[in-house]
Amino acid sequence: MKKICITGGAGFIGSHLVDYLASKYPQAHLVVVDKMCYPARREYLEPLLRSRRATLVEGSICNSELMNTVLAGADLVIHAAAESHVDNSYRDVKPFIETNIMGTISVLAAARQNNVGLFVHVSTDEVYGESECRNLTVNDKLNPTNPYAASKAAAEMFVLSYARSYRMRTRITRANNIFGTRQYPEKLIPKLICDALLGNTFVVHGRGTAFRAFLEVSDFCQAVGAIIDHGEDGGVYNVPAQKEYSVMAVVEMVSKALGIDVEKFVAFGPDRPHNDCRYGVKGEQLSALGWKPTRLLENELSALVDWYKANLELYSASQQKDKGAQQRINRTLKLISGKGVQFNRLRNSRSNSNLYQFNPQFPSP
Ligand SMILES: NC(=O)c1ccc[n+]([C@@H]2O[C@H](COP(=O)([O-])OP(=O)(O)OC[C@H]3O[C@@H](n4cnc5c(N)ncnc54)[C@H](O)[C@@H]3O)[C@@H](O)[C@H]2O)c1
Repeated sequence: MKKICITGGAGFIGSHLVDYLASKYPQAHLVVVDKMCYPARREYLEPLLRSRRATLVEGSICNSELMNTVLAGADLVIHAAAESHVDNSYRDVKPFIETNIMGTISVLAAARQNNVGLFVHVSTDEVYGESECRNLTVNDKLNPTNPYAASKAAAEMFVLSYARSYRMRTRITRANNIFGTRQYPEKLIPKLICDALLGNTFVVHGRGTAFRAFLEVSDFCQAVGAIIDHGEDGGVYNVPAQKEYSVMAVVEMVSKALGIDVEKFVAFGPDRPHNDCRYGVKGEQLSALGWKPTRLLENELSALVDWYKANLELYSASQQKDKGAQQRINRTLKLISGKGVQFNRLRNSRSNSNLYQFNPQFPSP
């Protein structure tokens, strides 16, 4: 591998994939294409940008000319860029159609034009809709129940169609919920941790009875590695976690890890228009490749809490233009640092000279 492109590589999962691929392929140059939406942080990539192992191209995957240029000579594309938050998709579906569907088509077309060796598409278990008591296989039908999931299912159809029509080498992952460091605090686990650190009340959707399985992000990266090495072209791979939990069980575990009283911390709000009760998937194709998940949420929580304490500034209002939040964060930073926690003060990323500002002659759509 000489050149690997990771779309959405400045986001949560994408940035972990960048780190993983950098160590798996020490000779490869990594090109990240990311629109730098609110969950993205260039700080995640800083060490690799500084050592010039990676280049960050700030731009949208919907920009076909940009993607054509970026994918020239690439051996592998990992397509992780997406609008990823279900709640946002209920508020406004348009960005989900643009990025998740139109963006995927743009990346596929550019990969085809450039004869990219392999296209790995990061999809989700949510494309199945709720699984009730059964664990679903890759042969079960797709039945998405929210606009985010629908846009991801549509994107998959285009990936499969490119594999069939143009004999493109593609592989698709459908993972359970993923957790780990760098996840933007809008998703359940980091939101719980950050709300607790900031003294906010955490509002549970409905009664918190939905079940979710949680896969640690490095387990997911290993799964992608196994799929690259031993997967089948045109293959679809469920990536299941070992264990599932009710939302309230997660709230209790996180409260315990933070030493706070769950009763005082949690309120119950309206549920989503539709909240799938669980997403159970079977991963026999991946087991056959020798992969299995190794990490359990309960064993990772204490380190995860420490990471958010040390990096709370990454999600500060200076990045989010919310003055009230900035004050709350400053108060929390003071409180925690008073207890001797070390903070990683990240230098201003704008000064990094390895930032690749894309040629403005290609307008962003
Ligand atoms: N988080 C999970 O639990 C989970 C589980 C299964 C699958 N997935 C999938 O994994 C992928 C990554 O999710 P994540 O949780 O890391 O989300 P994330 O929101 O942290 O990352 C998504 C990244 O995509 C970028 N992006 C968005 N629109 C873009 C555009 N038009 N052009 C270029 N970049 C754009 C964002 O800036 C961000 O960096 C998504 O495809 C998601 O559907 C996530």
